[in-house]
Amino acid sequence: NGLNALAQTQGKTYFGSATDNPELTNTAYTAILDNNMMFGQLTPSNSMKWDATEPEPGTFTFTEGDQIADLAKTNGQLLRGHNTVWYNQLPDWVTSTAWNATGLTAAIQRHVSTVIGHYKGQVYSWDVVNEPFNDNGTFRSDVFYDTLGESYISIALIAARAADPNAKLYINDYNIEGTGVKSTAMQNLVTSLQSQGVPIDGVGIEGHLIVGEVTTTIQENMEAITALGVEVAITELDIRMTLPETAALLDQQKTDYQTVISACMAVEKCIGMTLWDYTDLYSWVPSTFSGQGAACPWDENLVRKPAYDGIVAALQS
Ligand code: G3I
Repeated sequence: NGLNALAQTQGKTYFGSATDNPELTNTAYTAILDNNMMFGQLTPSNSMKWDATEPEPGTFTFTEGDQIADLAKTNGQLLRGHNTVWYNQLPDWVTSTAWNATGLTAAIQRHVSTVIGHYKGQVYSWDVVNEPFNDNGTFRSDVFYDTLGESYISIALIAARAADPNAKLYINDYNIEGTGVKSTAMQNLVTSLQSQGVPIDGVGIEGHLIVGEVTTTIQENMEAITALGVEVAITELDIRMTLPETAALLDQQKTDYQTVISACMAVEKCIGMTLWDYTDLYSWVPSTFSGQGAACPWDENLVRKPAYDGIVAALQS
Protein backbone atom coordinates (compact mmCIF):
# COMPACT_ATOMS: atom_id res chain seq x y z
CA ASN A 1 0.00 0.00 0.00
CA GLY A 2 1.11 3.57 -0.54
CA LEU A 3 0.20 6.95 -1.95
CA ASN A 4 0.42 5.98 -5.61
CA ALA A 5 -1.54 2.78 -5.09
CA LEU A 6 -4.29 4.76 -3.38
CA ALA A 7 -4.31 7.46 -6.05
CA GLN A 8 -4.54 4.94 -8.86
CA THR A 9 -7.33 3.05 -7.10
CA GLN A 10 -9.25 6.33 -7.16
CA GLY A 11 -8.69 6.79 -10.90
CA LYS A 12 -5.68 9.10 -10.89
CA THR A 13 -2.76 8.49 -13.24
CA TYR A 14 -0.03 8.83 -10.60
CA PHE A 15 1.15 10.15 -7.26
CA GLY A 16 4.83 11.01 -7.58
CA SER A 17 7.90 12.79 -6.31
CA ALA A 18 10.69 14.96 -7.62
CA THR A 19 14.22 13.74 -7.11
CA ASP A 20 17.76 14.87 -7.89
CA ASN A 21 20.86 12.90 -8.85
CA PRO A 22 22.99 13.53 -5.73
CA GLU A 23 20.18 12.09 -3.58
CA LEU A 24 20.30 8.71 -5.28
CA THR A 25 23.36 7.57 -3.33
CA ASN A 26 21.27 7.59 -0.12
CA THR A 27 19.90 4.05 0.04
CA ALA A 28 17.43 4.79 2.83
CA TYR A 29 16.04 7.55 0.60
CA THR A 30 15.89 5.43 -2.55
CA ALA A 31 14.24 2.55 -0.70
CA ILE A 32 11.15 4.76 -0.36
CA LEU A 33 11.51 6.55 -3.70
CA ASP A 34 11.80 3.33 -5.71
CA ASN A 35 8.58 1.80 -4.37
CA ASN A 36 6.01 2.29 -7.11
CA MET A 37 3.15 1.65 -4.70
CA MET A 38 4.29 4.82 -2.92
CA PHE A 39 5.44 6.88 -5.94
CA GLY A 40 4.23 6.13 -9.44
CA GLN A 41 6.04 9.01 -11.10
CA LEU A 42 9.38 10.85 -10.90
CA THR A 43 10.39 14.36 -11.94
CA PRO A 44 14.08 15.31 -12.14
CA SER A 45 14.30 18.54 -10.15
CA ASN A 46 17.41 19.80 -11.96
CA SER A 47 19.03 17.41 -14.41
CA MET A 48 16.88 17.97 -17.50
CA LYS A 49 17.06 21.77 -17.35
CA TRP A 50 18.79 23.81 -20.06
CA ASP A 51 22.01 24.46 -18.09
CA ALA A 52 22.33 20.73 -17.43
CA THR A 53 21.46 19.47 -20.91
CA GLU A 54 22.96 22.06 -23.30
CA PRO A 55 25.76 23.85 -21.43
CA GLU A 56 27.41 24.97 -24.69
CA PRO A 57 25.51 25.73 -27.89
CA GLY A 58 24.70 22.50 -29.67
CA THR A 59 26.57 20.34 -27.14
CA PHE A 60 24.14 18.12 -25.25
CA THR A 61 24.73 16.06 -22.10
CA PHE A 62 22.12 13.61 -20.93
CA THR A 63 24.02 11.52 -18.39
CA GLU A 64 22.23 12.82 -15.31
CA GLY A 65 18.83 13.08 -16.94
CA ASP A 66 19.22 9.54 -18.21
CA GLN A 67 19.98 8.33 -14.70
CA ILE A 68 16.57 9.49 -13.52
CA ALA A 69 14.78 8.37 -16.69
CA ASP A 70 16.35 4.93 -16.31
CA LEU A 71 15.45 4.80 -12.63
CA ALA A 72 11.80 5.54 -13.39
CA LYS A 73 11.80 2.86 -16.05
CA THR A 74 13.42 0.29 -13.73
CA ASN A 75 10.94 1.14 -11.00
CA GLY A 76 7.90 1.04 -13.27
CA GLN A 77 7.23 4.75 -12.75
CA LEU A 78 6.03 7.45 -15.11
CA LEU A 79 8.40 10.30 -15.91
CA ARG A 80 7.63 14.01 -16.10
CA GLY A 81 10.14 16.00 -18.12
CA HIS A 82 11.17 19.26 -16.45
CA ASN A 83 11.75 21.58 -18.30
CA THR A 84 12.78 22.95 -21.70
CA VAL A 85 12.17 26.71 -21.78
CA TRP A 86 12.50 28.67 -18.53
CA TYR A 87 14.10 31.96 -17.55
CA ASN A 88 16.12 30.32 -14.76
CA GLN A 89 19.02 27.86 -14.81
CA LEU A 90 20.01 28.90 -18.31
CA PRO A 91 23.63 28.59 -19.43
CA ASP A 92 25.48 31.86 -19.89
CA TRP A 93 25.52 31.52 -23.65
CA VAL A 94 21.73 31.78 -23.73
CA THR A 95 21.48 34.80 -21.46
CA SER A 96 24.51 36.71 -22.74
CA THR A 97 24.06 36.41 -26.51
CA ALA A 98 22.61 39.48 -28.27
CA TRP A 99 19.92 37.45 -30.01
CA ASN A 100 17.83 38.41 -32.96
CA ALA A 101 14.48 36.68 -33.46
CA THR A 102 15.73 34.24 -36.08
CA GLY A 103 18.70 33.13 -34.03
CA LEU A 104 16.80 32.63 -30.79
CA THR A 105 14.00 30.79 -32.58
CA ALA A 106 16.56 28.36 -33.99
CA ALA A 107 18.20 27.95 -30.57
CA ILE A 108 14.86 27.17 -28.91
CA GLN A 109 13.92 24.73 -31.67
CA ARG A 110 17.25 22.93 -31.44
CA HIS A 111 17.10 22.71 -27.65
CA VAL A 112 13.49 21.53 -27.44
CA SER A 113 13.80 19.10 -30.36
CA THR A 114 17.02 17.54 -29.10
CA VAL A 115 16.08 17.20 -25.44
CA ILE A 116 12.52 16.01 -25.95
CA GLY A 117 13.65 13.88 -28.89
CA HIS A 118 16.29 12.22 -26.71
CA TYR A 119 13.60 11.10 -24.26
CA LYS A 120 11.01 10.26 -26.91
CA GLY A 121 8.74 7.46 -25.74
CA GLN A 122 9.90 7.70 -22.11
CA VAL A 123 8.01 10.74 -20.87
CA TYR A 124 4.39 11.02 -19.79
CA SER A 125 4.40 14.81 -19.86
CA TRP A 126 6.84 17.66 -20.43
CA ASP A 127 6.90 21.08 -18.81
CA VAL A 128 7.74 22.59 -22.19
CA VAL A 129 7.42 26.16 -20.95
CA ASN A 130 8.02 26.90 -17.29
CA GLU A 131 6.87 29.95 -15.31
CA PRO A 132 6.03 32.34 -18.17
CA PHE A 133 3.99 34.76 -16.04
CA ASN A 134 4.56 37.45 -13.47
CA ASP A 135 2.26 37.33 -10.46
CA ASN A 136 0.16 40.16 -11.93
CA GLY A 137 -0.61 38.07 -15.01
CA THR A 138 1.68 39.86 -17.45
CA PHE A 139 4.32 37.91 -19.31
CA ARG A 140 7.65 37.65 -17.53
CA SER A 141 10.45 39.70 -19.07
CA ASP A 142 13.26 37.31 -19.96
CA VAL A 143 15.50 36.56 -22.94
CA PHE A 144 12.71 34.63 -24.65
CA TYR A 145 9.87 37.10 -24.20
CA ASP A 146 12.03 40.15 -24.74
CA THR A 147 13.27 38.80 -28.07
CA LEU A 148 10.23 36.97 -29.42
CA GLY A 149 7.19 38.15 -27.46
CA GLU A 150 4.74 35.41 -26.55
CA SER A 151 5.51 33.61 -29.81
CA TYR A 152 8.36 31.83 -28.01
CA ILE A 153 5.71 29.70 -26.31
CA SER A 154 4.20 28.39 -29.54
CA ILE A 155 7.66 27.93 -31.06
CA ALA A 156 8.56 25.65 -28.15
CA LEU A 157 5.27 23.74 -28.11
CA ILE A 158 5.31 23.06 -31.84
CA ALA A 159 8.89 21.77 -31.65
CA ALA A 160 7.97 19.63 -28.64
CA ARG A 161 5.03 17.98 -30.38
CA ALA A 162 7.19 17.11 -33.39
CA ALA A 163 9.93 15.66 -31.16
CA ASP A 164 7.64 13.33 -29.15
CA PRO A 165 4.06 13.16 -30.43
CA ASN A 166 2.98 10.98 -27.49
CA ALA A 167 4.20 13.20 -24.66
CA LYS A 168 1.64 15.49 -23.08
CA LEU A 169 2.77 19.10 -23.43
CA TYR A 170 2.35 21.31 -20.38
CA ILE A 171 2.89 24.90 -19.37
CA ASN A 172 3.81 24.99 -15.69
CA ASP A 173 3.66 27.87 -13.20
CA TYR A 174 3.35 28.81 -9.53
CA ASN A 175 0.76 30.97 -7.77
CA ILE A 176 -1.94 29.62 -10.06
CA GLU A 177 -3.32 27.24 -7.43
CA GLY A 178 -6.36 29.39 -6.77
CA THR A 179 -8.48 31.69 -8.90
CA GLY A 180 -6.98 35.10 -9.62
CA VAL A 181 -5.25 37.20 -12.23
CA LYS A 182 -2.34 34.83 -12.75
CA SER A 183 -4.56 31.79 -13.29
CA THR A 184 -6.78 33.86 -15.58
CA ALA A 185 -3.71 34.82 -17.61
CA MET A 186 -2.79 31.13 -17.92
CA GLN A 187 -6.32 30.29 -19.06
CA ASN A 188 -6.22 33.09 -21.63
CA LEU A 189 -2.90 31.76 -22.93
CA VAL A 190 -4.34 28.24 -23.29
CA THR A 191 -7.34 29.60 -25.18
CA SER A 192 -5.12 31.69 -27.44
CA LEU A 193 -2.84 28.74 -28.24
CA GLN A 194 -5.84 26.52 -28.98
CA SER A 195 -7.32 29.12 -31.32
CA GLN A 196 -4.05 29.18 -33.25
CA GLY A 197 -3.88 25.39 -33.46
CA VAL A 198 -0.78 25.23 -31.23
CA PRO A 199 -0.52 21.96 -29.29
CA ILE A 200 -1.20 22.25 -25.53
CA ASP A 201 -2.36 19.33 -23.38
CA GLY A 202 -1.98 20.41 -19.80
CA VAL A 203 -1.40 23.09 -17.19
CA GLY A 204 1.01 22.32 -14.36
CA ILE A 205 0.02 23.87 -11.06
CA GLU A 206 3.22 23.86 -8.99
CA GLY A 207 1.86 24.12 -5.47
CA HIS A 208 4.66 25.73 -3.46
CA LEU A 209 2.40 26.73 -0.60
CA ILE A 210 2.55 28.07 2.95
CA VAL A 211 1.06 26.41 6.04
CA GLY A 212 -2.12 28.18 7.09
CA GLU A 213 -2.35 30.17 3.86
CA VAL A 214 -3.78 27.66 1.41
CA THR A 215 -6.48 29.14 -0.82
CA THR A 216 -10.01 27.74 -0.72
CA THR A 217 -10.46 28.09 -4.50
CA ILE A 218 -8.23 25.27 -5.77
CA GLN A 219 -11.04 23.03 -6.96
CA GLU A 220 -12.92 25.90 -8.60
CA ASN A 221 -9.71 26.99 -10.31
CA MET A 222 -8.93 23.51 -11.59
CA GLU A 223 -12.45 23.19 -12.94
CA ALA A 224 -12.05 26.47 -14.82
CA ILE A 225 -8.79 25.34 -16.39
CA THR A 226 -9.94 21.84 -17.31
CA ALA A 227 -13.14 23.28 -18.81
CA LEU A 228 -10.88 24.59 -21.58
CA GLY A 229 -10.15 21.01 -22.64
CA VAL A 230 -6.72 20.55 -21.05
CA GLU A 231 -5.72 18.38 -18.10
CA VAL A 232 -4.11 19.72 -14.94
CA ALA A 233 -1.63 18.23 -12.49
CA ILE A 234 -0.13 19.41 -9.21
CA THR A 235 3.49 19.33 -10.23
CA GLU A 236 5.68 20.57 -7.36
CA LEU A 237 3.74 20.33 -4.11
CA ASP A 238 5.27 21.37 -0.81
CA ILE A 239 3.81 23.38 2.08
CA ARG A 240 6.39 25.27 4.10
CA MET A 241 6.28 26.79 7.56
CA THR A 242 8.27 29.25 9.61
CA LEU A 243 10.58 27.16 11.77
CA PRO A 244 10.70 25.73 14.35
CA GLU A 245 8.12 23.02 13.77
CA THR A 246 5.41 22.85 16.42
CA ALA A 247 2.65 20.32 16.91
CA ALA A 248 0.15 22.97 15.91
CA LEU A 249 2.02 23.80 12.69
CA LEU A 250 2.37 20.13 11.79
CA ASP A 251 -1.35 19.65 12.38
CA GLN A 252 -2.20 22.65 10.21
CA GLN A 253 0.17 21.30 7.56
CA LYS A 254 -1.72 18.00 7.62
CA THR A 255 -4.97 19.88 7.02
CA ASP A 256 -3.36 21.89 4.20
CA TYR A 257 -2.01 18.82 2.38
CA GLN A 258 -5.42 17.21 2.71
CA THR A 259 -7.07 20.33 1.25
CA VAL A 260 -4.82 20.42 -1.82
CA ILE A 261 -4.98 16.69 -2.57
CA SER A 262 -8.75 16.64 -2.00
CA ALA A 263 -9.19 19.37 -4.61
CA CYS A 264 -7.32 17.31 -7.20
CA MET A 265 -9.30 14.21 -6.28
CA ALA A 266 -12.54 16.11 -6.83
CA VAL A 267 -11.61 17.19 -10.37
CA GLU A 268 -11.68 14.40 -12.93
CA LYS A 269 -9.08 15.96 -15.20
CA CYS A 270 -6.62 16.64 -12.40
CA ILE A 271 -4.64 13.58 -13.37
CA GLY A 272 -1.78 13.46 -10.90
CA MET A 273 0.14 14.98 -8.03
CA THR A 274 3.89 15.33 -7.47
CA LEU A 275 5.73 16.24 -4.26
CA TRP A 276 8.74 18.57 -4.79
CA ASP A 277 10.68 15.85 -3.14
CA TYR A 278 9.10 13.78 -0.45
CA THR A 279 11.49 14.51 2.44
CA ASP A 280 12.62 17.62 4.29
CA LEU A 281 16.15 16.24 3.93
CA TYR A 282 16.22 17.33 0.28
CA SER A 283 13.75 20.20 0.17
CA TRP A 284 14.76 23.33 -1.77
CA VAL A 285 12.91 25.54 0.74
CA PRO A 286 15.44 26.28 3.55
CA SER A 287 18.15 27.46 1.17
CA THR A 288 15.73 29.82 -0.58
CA PHE A 289 13.54 31.08 2.28
CA SER A 290 15.64 31.76 5.32
CA GLY A 291 14.00 30.51 8.52
CA GLN A 292 11.41 28.42 6.66
CA GLY A 293 11.25 24.72 5.89
CA ALA A 294 9.72 21.44 7.03
CA ALA A 295 7.62 21.58 3.86
CA CYS A 296 7.49 17.90 2.93
CA PRO A 297 5.41 14.95 4.22
CA TRP A 298 8.48 13.03 5.43
CA ASP A 299 10.90 14.64 7.88
CA GLU A 300 14.70 14.87 7.62
CA ASN A 301 15.02 11.36 9.09
CA LEU A 302 12.65 9.94 6.47
CA VAL A 303 9.92 9.54 9.08
CA ARG A 304 6.36 10.28 7.99
CA LYS A 305 4.81 13.45 9.40
CA PRO A 306 1.12 14.14 10.09
CA ALA A 307 1.00 15.57 6.55
CA TYR A 308 1.33 12.02 5.23
CA ASP A 309 -1.91 11.05 6.98
CA GLY A 310 -3.59 14.13 5.52
CA ILE A 311 -2.65 12.98 2.04
CA VAL A 312 -3.90 9.46 2.73
CA ALA A 313 -7.19 10.82 4.02
CA ALA A 314 -7.62 12.89 0.87
CA LEU A 315 -6.73 10.01 -1.44
CA GLN A 316 -9.29 7.78 0.29
CA SER A 317 -12.16 10.26 0.12
O1 G3I B 1 25.04 22.51 -9.57
C1 G3I B 1 25.53 23.54 -8.74
C2 G3I B 1 26.83 23.12 -8.09
O2 G3I B 1 27.80 22.92 -9.08
C3 G3I B 1 27.25 24.20 -7.10
O3 G3I B 1 28.38 23.79 -6.42
C4 G3I B 1 26.15 24.48 -6.10
C5 G3I B 1 26.51 25.59 -5.14
O4 G3I B 1 25.43 26.47 -4.95
O5 G3I B 1 25.00 24.85 -6.81
C6 G3I B 1 24.52 23.85 -7.67
O6 G3I B 1 23.39 24.33 -8.33
C7 G3I B 1 22.20 24.40 -7.54
C8 G3I B 1 21.17 23.52 -8.22
O7 G3I B 1 19.93 23.65 -7.56
C9 G3I B 1 21.56 22.05 -8.22
O8 G3I B 1 21.65 21.59 -6.91
C10 G3I B 1 21.74 25.83 -7.49
O9 G3I B 1 22.65 26.60 -6.73
C11 G3I B 1 20.37 25.91 -6.88
O10 G3I B 1 19.88 27.24 -7.01
C12 G3I B 1 19.44 24.97 -7.60
O11 G3I B 1 18.16 25.07 -6.99
C13 G3I B 1 17.10 24.51 -7.73
C14 G3I B 1 16.11 25.61 -8.10
O12 G3I B 1 15.02 25.04 -8.79
C15 G3I B 1 16.75 26.66 -9.00
O13 G3I B 1 15.81 27.60 -9.36
C16 G3I B 1 16.39 23.49 -6.85
O14 G3I B 1 17.26 22.39 -6.59
C17 G3I B 1 15.13 22.99 -7.55
O15 G3I B 1 14.40 22.19 -6.66
C18 G3I B 1 14.27 24.19 -7.94
O16 G3I B 1 13.10 23.75 -8.58
C19 G3I B 1 12.21 24.76 -9.04
C20 G3I B 1 11.55 24.22 -10.30
O17 G3I B 1 12.52 23.85 -11.24
C21 G3I B 1 10.60 25.25 -10.90
N1 G3I B 1 9.64 25.70 -9.92
C22 G3I B 1 10.20 26.16 -8.65
C23 G3I B 1 11.12 25.12 -8.04
C24 G3I B 1 11.65 25.57 -6.70
O18 G3I B 1 12.49 26.68 -6.82
